[in-house]
Amino acid sequence: MAIIETKDLDLYYGTNQALKKINLDINKNEVTALIGPSGCGKSTFLRTLNRMNDLIEIVKVEGKVLFEGKNIYDDYDEIALRKRIGMVFQKPNPFPMSIYDNITYGPKIHGIKDKKVLDEIVEKSLKGAALWDETKDRLKKSALGLSGGQQQRLCIARTLATSPEIILMDEPTSALDPISTSKVEELMDELKKKYTVIIVTHNMQQAGRIADKTAFFLNGEVIEFDATENIFYKPRDKRTEDYITGRFG
Ligand SMILES: Nc1ncnc2c1ncn2[C@@H]1O[C@H](COP(=O)(O)OP(=O)(O)O)[C@@H](O)[C@H]1O
Ligand SMILES: [Mg+2]
Repeated sequence: MAIIETKDLDLYYGTNQALKKINLDINKNEVTALIGPSGCGKSTFLRTLNRMNDLIEIVKVEGKVLFEGKNIYDDYDEIALRKRIGMVFQKPNPFPMSIYDNITYGPKIHGIKDKKVLDEIVEKSLKGAALWDETKDRLKKSALGLSGGQQQRLCIARTLATSPEIILMDEPTSALDPISTSKVEELMDELKKKYTVIIVTHNMQQAGRIADKTAFFLNGEVIEFDATENIFYKPRDKRTEDYITGRFG
């Protein structure tokens, strides 16, 4: 079942058109990877899904993004939207505060004050990000004392804390070492049981390992969107094949 559908989605930065007629259906409880060369619009597309581009003044969006059938560009409260569609960025960006406070930050903004409820959210979110065992004895210590890989899982936990339906990830492992990268990758199978994950990756092997569906972007267009194994082993478009086989990058 599609939880997100984009309909003829165009996006312009001033006069530069960065997205061209994007029509993608993203299924619930799947991992969808967005691949393609640098500058082809992957991050821009990801940001259209929770209206993060609205923060950029010169941006103009046309077309629709339906979330559970409702256009998020109509009258949708952006704060409420970003609670339901969370985002994890390329570089781990924990707040300079304790592990505990990082996770309760969002829930507190949304009005949760009860200490017991907050404690539960912290435990559940850290478990959900496979970070509980490593942090349960140091919750009140600064998040900045964690390793890069732990920090990124903390950022995932922070996103989980507001109970989103969708998690957007923009190259979440590109700043991580191989061991931390595989920890984050291992999380995906668990995450998709409860959430829908849309992940930008420049690493094709990573898309192959974790994604159910893959969309290949080129110059602001989706060239091909299909089950990941079809994109890698039976691409229908010559441009997809050329990219997959490393003829350009
Ligand atoms: N904030 C911005 N202002 C103006 N142009 C931008 C901005 N962000 C991205 N672009 C342009 O949009 C295009 C797509 O960029 P981006 O979505 O970052 O691609 P990718 O994530 O695939 O590398 C590029 O031409 C880029 O220069
Ligand atoms: Mg990008």
